[in-house]
Amino acid sequence: MKFIPTRRHIATDLAGACPENPNYLQIRARMNRLVDRYLTIDILSQHLIDLPTQFSQPHVRKWEPIDWKSVSREQIVGVDPDLFIMLVAGATEIETPIREYSQETWNYMRSIHPGMAYFIGGTQNPDGSIATLGAWEKEERQHAPTFKKIYQQLTGEKLQPKPNSVNDYQSSNSALTAVNKHTLSRISTEWGAVSIYLWLMAHSTGALQQAIAQPFQDEVNHLAKFWGFSRWAFAGSYYEQVKGSAKSLLTLAKHHRGERTEGNNLVSKATTVDAIELAFVFSRVMVRVRTWNRELSHTLLTHLFGQSPVAA
Ligand SMILES: [Fe+2]
Ligand SMILES: [Fe+2]
Repeated sequence: MKFIPTRRHIATDLAGACPENPNYLQIRARMNRLVDRYLTIDILSQHLIDLPTQFSQPHVRKWEPIDWKSVSREQIVGVDPDLFIMLVAGATEIETPIREYSQETWNYMRSIHPGMAYFIGGTQNPDGSIATLGAWEKEERQHAPTFKKIYQQLTGEKLQPKPNSVNDYQSSNSALTAVNKHTLSRISTEWGAVSIYLWLMAHSTGALQQAIAQPFQDEVNHLAKFWGFSRWAFAGSYYEQVKGSAKSLLTLAKHHRGERTEGNNLVSKATTVDAIELAFVFSRVMVRVRTWNRELSHTLLTHLFGQSPVAA
């Protein structure tokens, strides 16, 4: 008889110890373990140092294979499975439409840093069609299909996602101010994705957790790149960057609440503990970024990217 592993047999996973029904403190320990595992100073630095190479030789982060057949609802831990599934559905919707996201960022970045614009949105033909895809866009394009597949695996149903609406590129008298604001909004979306996927990983185990770990690690990569690029380009302090991206995050949260299929259900389903956990994970991620931010000296950033536009 074939042995079929179930959650009961998994003592540890990517987030450390995984009890059958973890309580609040055990979930917090799992979140801390994930931060310590995937957001080390070294990992964040490597993601940033990789950026100048991306400008000349774009390459995507390699994914580990996902054992789709083993992904099951039984692997959701310590939370109402319906809430978990609603967040998976929300992630699928927020992860689209990538082409519009990348075009928006491409338009902002090209005047300030063509290499960064190329990394995000690739190159275009004169008629506006895609000539080459940007590495960031290639990575992002894998996320919505992954969450859609997870949803299907957990519910047995096909999700009909409603794509997010995108604020198109808005021209401004001060290009630098506009790009700075836009970069902070990108930091906020990457920060949001890192935090929510980390929460999903703390509340899952086995193949389900391993599947979420793939887009999650891409988002950590993007957060480090946008954060470091923003520090170099606009020379804002840690607090200025957190303040700007937190403000953008709140605007985004309001936007999603109204636009997401499950927006209102999600709010009514989430308990106070769920909200506390989410707040914990958002702050835990930013505290780690603060520690890493100390490594980002002016000398290092100039060495990586040359003279910053604010110093020009
Ligand atoms: Fe993404
Ligand atoms: Fe991302």
